Amino acid sequence: MLSAVDKSKKRGRYDRIYVQLSGLLNATGDMVSRMSTVAAVLHHKMDGFFWTGFYLLNNENLHVGPYQGPVACQVLAKDTGVCWTGINQQKTIIVPDVEQFPGHIACDSRSRSEIVVPVRDKEGQIIAVLDVDSKHLDQFDETDAEGLEKIVGLI
Ligand code: SME
Repeated sequence: MLSAVDKSKKRGRYDRIYVQLSGLLNATGDMVSRMSTVAAVLHHKMDGFFWTGFYLLNNENLHVGPYQGPVACQVLAKDTGVCWTGINQQKTIIVPDVEQFPGHIACDSRSRSEIVVPVRDKEGQIIAVLDVDSKHLDQFDETDAEGLEKIVGLI
């Protein structure tokens, strides 16, 4: 559990990243370029982000998109794992311990906790998810959910 001071530091970091990305993403309307930029900035600026990237919804399949970190699964079988749970429940999913999540898909055995945030188009339809994995148990909390939800809104 993070102290109130650490949570406030983390919130401040998300706020600064949001401002930086708001500027960077003015360069292009291309979704893949924008997702690549978001993944790179988050991965290198946030502590403990071991795998940071997107899975794109395409014809009822989830295919890996822009990411930073170790090689990941390219396709996630429908209705299995954390990413599909985020899509099916239409909300952010925080998994404190991946071994306790039924059906979790382990692309890398070093991942211990995870957060999945749906990405929506202008009409509110889910088009992708942002997925972040950590090597530490219980890495992600409501501060991450709020910060990442705001950031994916830029895409
Ligand atoms: N763990 C995810 C799969 C993607 S990797 O974490 C990069 C899941 O269960 O959907």
